[in-house]
Amino acid sequence: MTGTDELTRRLERRHADLLVHGGTVFTPNGPERIDVACLADRIAALGDLRGTWNADATLNATGLHVLPGVIDSQVHFREPGLTHKENLEAGTRGAVLGGVTAVFEMPNTHPLTLSADDLETKLDAARNRAWCDHAFYIGGSAVNAEHLHTLETLAGCAGVKVFMGSSFGDLLADDEAVLRRILRHGWRRLAVHAEDETRLRARKAIVEASGDVRQHPIWRDVTSALAATQRIVRIANETGRRLHVLHVSTAEEMAFLAGHRRRVSVEVTPHHLTLSAPGCYERLGSLAQMNPPIRDQRHQDALWRAIREGVVDVVGSDHAPHTLEEKAEPYPRSPSGMTGVQTLLPLMLDHVHAGRLSLQRLVDLTSAGPTRIFGIEGKGRIALGYDADLTLVDLAARRTLRNDWIASISGWTPYDGTTVTGWPIHTIVRGHVVVRDEVLAEAPARGQPLQFLEVVPRPGSRES
Ligand code: DOR
Repeated sequence: MTGTDELTRRLERRHADLLVHGGTVFTPNGPERIDVACLADRIAALGDLRGTWNADATLNATGLHVLPGVIDSQVHFREPGLTHKENLEAGTRGAVLGGVTAVFEMPNTHPLTLSADDLETKLDAARNRAWCDHAFYIGGSAVNAEHLHTLETLAGCAGVKVFMGSSFGDLLADDEAVLRRILRHGWRRLAVHAEDETRLRARKAIVEASGDVRQHPIWRDVTSALAATQRIVRIANETGRRLHVLHVSTAEEMAFLAGHRRRVSVEVTPHHLTLSAPGCYERLGSLAQMNPPIRDQRHQDALWRAIREGVVDVVGSDHAPHTLEEKAEPYPRSPSGMTGVQTLLPLMLDHVHAGRLSLQRLVDLTSAGPTRIFGIEGKGRIALGYDADLTLVDLAARRTLRNDWIASISGWTPYDGTTVTGWPIHTIVRGHVVVRDEVLAEAPARGQPLQFLEVVPRPGSRES
């Protein structure tokens, strides 16, 4: 569909590109039995549209729930430089097969994403290859700190990401003065991996001596996470910067963060909500190894409590693939990270089925939440004029997660053999059906860069 005249004619004639009918649609009013008309990427009409609208194509959603498209605000797609683990095509293909319609991609690639050129390289690589909408983080480091307030405004940029503790790759900013410089140069919400590098280095001997992956949460202990989180929140308060703490993994951080919600938003991963120590390490070995680590049940219970109490804003997958050969290296040489973008929604729907959260809260965590805290334009709700990003799920469908379903180049999931209830059936990105009946459409990949609301600093609040 092109041209404003044609668009006006179509609207007048009530002729949509796509009509989704018969489903239970999650609008801001709650679940409604209505139809959705999609025209030129957007939602053009909502309601009982039978008899009043026609369309080039229809999708029967009878028996399905129609959710706002799922946004995964933490994925590592490894391109450029590490494409033996993952790439933008396979990563986004996994996303849409798992019901995800937009992603934020992380900067610890080779080269790191530190400059406008690095960002452009990623946007170019995604053009005509990405199956879903996307934005890329710029890494915050000593080398680009003074340019971040400009870099963060570039089209297609998700904002700035800081690694306070080394995880995978060379991106690290743990020095107090450097962190302060980074936080002072910019206005958008800054995403942080909070583990204390000094403490991690001091304690590494624990795991080097044992070679036992069960020691992973002992090496990277609660204090490593809590100390870094407390430090970055203090610097954020001092510099007036909004913050997003990624993959929070401890009860202690949740208790602390509950007192800082005006400025600080909070993310948890499905892995930390689903797996727990020591069982996950005994069953999966280094496949369960990620940073920050999966911890014991006390922490998992606290993460669920934090979801119920509204302390958590988003669920992000931290999709961080490594090959099975790399993961088979003896611990601690085995790299940390696991796939997740494709299993995020199935796992969370299974938690809905088990009664751990409501479908409404899931929509808040996976669509409305990321849109609200990161200021994504036109996403996150099924409403007139918003982008027609729709994730259609069958809450009763039972499926077993299998490695051979995983689109990632790395080809594995820690949930291989796990049966879940609740499954994405169709995925619609801006009115285009990219997955139909669980199968990728033949249509070309149409992912576009995400757009963000501009952040206007308060006059005189601080120099940049
Ligand atoms: O386990 C992890 N792996 N955590 C991170 O934060 C980074 C990631 C990676 O890139 O492999």
